[in-house]
Amino acid sequence: MKQKTIPTKNKKVINWINQIAALCEPDDIYWCDGSDKEYACLCDLLVKKGTFIRLNAKKRPNSFLARSNPKDVARVEARTFICSENKEDAGPTNNWADPQKMKKTLGKLFKGCMHGRTMYIIPFSMGPLGSDIAQIGIEITDSPYVVVNMRIMTRVSEKVWSILGDKGFFIPCLHSVGHPIEKGEKDVTWPCNPDNTYITHFPETREIISFGSGYGGNALLGKKCLALRIASKMAKDEGWLAEHMLIAGIENPEGKKTYIAAAFPSACGKTNLAMLIPPKSFKGWKVWTVGDDIAWIKPKEGKLYAINPEAGFFGVAPGTSVKTNKNAMETCRANTIFTNVALTDDGDVWWEGMTEEKPSHLIDWQGHDWTPQTKTPAAHPNSRFTAPAKQDPAIDSDWENPEGVPISAFIFGGRLATNAPLVYQSFNWAHGVYLAATLGSEKTAAAEGTMGEIRRDPFAMLPFCGYNMGDYFTHWLDIGRKLTCIPLMFRVNWFRKDSKGNFIWPGFGENLRVLRWIVERVENKASAIESPLGLMPTYQSIDWRGLQFSKEQFIDLMSVDKVQGLNEALAQLTYMKQFKKHLPPEFLNEVSLLSLRLVRSNEVWSVPDMSSLKEITVQKKSLKKRTLKKGKK
Ligand code: GTP
Ligand code: SPV
Ligand code: MN
Repeated sequence: MKQKTIPTKNKKVINWINQIAALCEPDDIYWCDGSDKEYACLCDLLVKKGTFIRLNAKKRPNSFLARSNPKDVARVEARTFICSENKEDAGPTNNWADPQKMKKTLGKLFKGCMHGRTMYIIPFSMGPLGSDIAQIGIEITDSPYVVVNMRIMTRVSEKVWSILGDKGFFIPCLHSVGHPIEKGEKDVTWPCNPDNTYITHFPETREIISFGSGYGGNALLGKKCLALRIASKMAKDEGWLAEHMLIAGIENPEGKKTYIAAAFPSACGKTNLAMLIPPKSFKGWKVWTVGDDIAWIKPKEGKLYAINPEAGFFGVAPGTSVKTNKNAMETCRANTIFTNVALTDDGDVWWEGMTEEKPSHLIDWQGHDWTPQTKTPAAHPNSRFTAPAKQDPAIDSDWENPEGVPISAFIFGGRLATNAPLVYQSFNWAHGVYLAATLGSEKTAAAEGTMGEIRRDPFAMLPFCGYNMGDYFTHWLDIGRKLTCIPLMFRVNWFRKDSKGNFIWPGFGENLRVLRWIVERVENKASAIESPLGLMPTYQSIDWRGLQFSKEQFIDLMSVDKVQGLNEALAQLTYMKQFKKHLPPEFLNEVSLLSLRLVRSNEVWSVPDMSSLKEITVQKKSLKKRTLKKGKK
């Protein structure tokens, strides 16, 4: 690729680039334009370097496989820092570091860190180019792998320079894999520096600096660093919300679409829900994807509107199959970058759960021979596909609408094996905020500690909130007070297990049964009953057509154990203590009310049988009538 002339006159950009180039001492500087040609050239370069393996052009057109260093396979929360001027502004749930000290440390690490490498400058937009809600970022990186991934995940374009003009605002994102190539040294296929990894954020000055990792959210700085950690702080200052949420439109047989936004911790089913395919028995129902990971939500005229700031999906591969997520399989059929999945003998990809029968031979994610007898997984549990959102067959017609889509309900869900019912609704906004703030989930790849251990992950934002989490809770309460059209709030859990350790709930497409109840709560059509935790559906208010799921199973799934519930309330109180004066006092009321409801309930609260209430059948009839009438017209 030929070196271009500098495409901007923006002094701030030019000064910053010059300063970073002087510090990092790259061999070359390359200004990206986001074109197809550039993408193809960089992919060829990555193949030549051995970072990419080109996949079978018939089976996976224009797609590649990358294998990372086994020490660089996920976000590293322990090495993620919020460098606010005051420690208190980072809050008790973030790693804080003094901004001046951190910049000194980083200055030393970045000195000469791009020797032997090209420094790429990526102009990108989070959100549709030029729209009011979009934010411009400029990422400097020494990783061509990052450039091609950013091109799928964000809107990389030369147009950014004209939007920015001479004085426009942008978020500087500096990244290095931290692995210089000195004279006479050979490069490796996945350069990184796992012993010196720093993912740092300066919320007040809106800067991001990342060193040592080339993987996912550590390196694709538009995603978690910009669109969540920095954006959450901007949102707090400006009166909006930046959330770790999918956005989906649920269309009923009459063609009415209801948009929901749902927060689940990493690897807990956002992509899956955003692309859900309804069960066969749900004729006429459709789920449309707006986003699968991040939502920027703004109040307008008393309503909340959400946009997806991303342009692609960085989805978890294992567990994705035609059965569990056909739309995701379609989305990554071509033009996709796979990282840390297994390679088949015919040059395609495979991961655990993709097919029921395992291939008889594979090359695993570390490049070793693998057979079904091999004890280790063929694909890394956090292996991912990077695919353009527009390839999703269920992409919503409004997914790039700069106005956003109106949100009618928020859903919060964790991965909990015990004592967390399938679904319940909050009594009001403040109770909903409290339900989201006390969300717990079993640990997955990016967190320290044992997988499966439970940790509290408020709003699924624990690793992504760029300021004091207590203030974040208050911000949510404040937003609600400004609305005239208040979204309903729900907690869900697809992951409750029976005594044998099997999931009680079939999940995936069947989750639409829960979504239908939620949508009909929004429309004021479905009934609910008060449980100690919140408002719950009765067996009769869920549509069971086409699924064998008994009343007894449902009761198991929905039951609330009094003693466990009270212990949980106590644990919540202990958890809340850490926020000190930043804790909204509303939460203490919520814990007392929860405890009182539990004290007054049976040892095991279970959904009462309301079989006389035939609401779903009634609805079915009236629906038929309506369709008949329509047909007559
Ligand atoms: P991040 O991209 O890390 O933020 O994750 P995500 O929340 O988008 O997670 P994703 O949808 O990729 O799902 C992660 C894992 O959960 C996959 O292995 C899925 O197969 C599994 N999963 C998703 N939905 C369900 C469900 O309803 N039930 C069960 N049992 N597993 C599910
Ligand atoms: C997550 O961990 O929540 C992800 C993957 O979505 S990453 O982009 O690596 O953060
Ligand atoms: Mn995520």
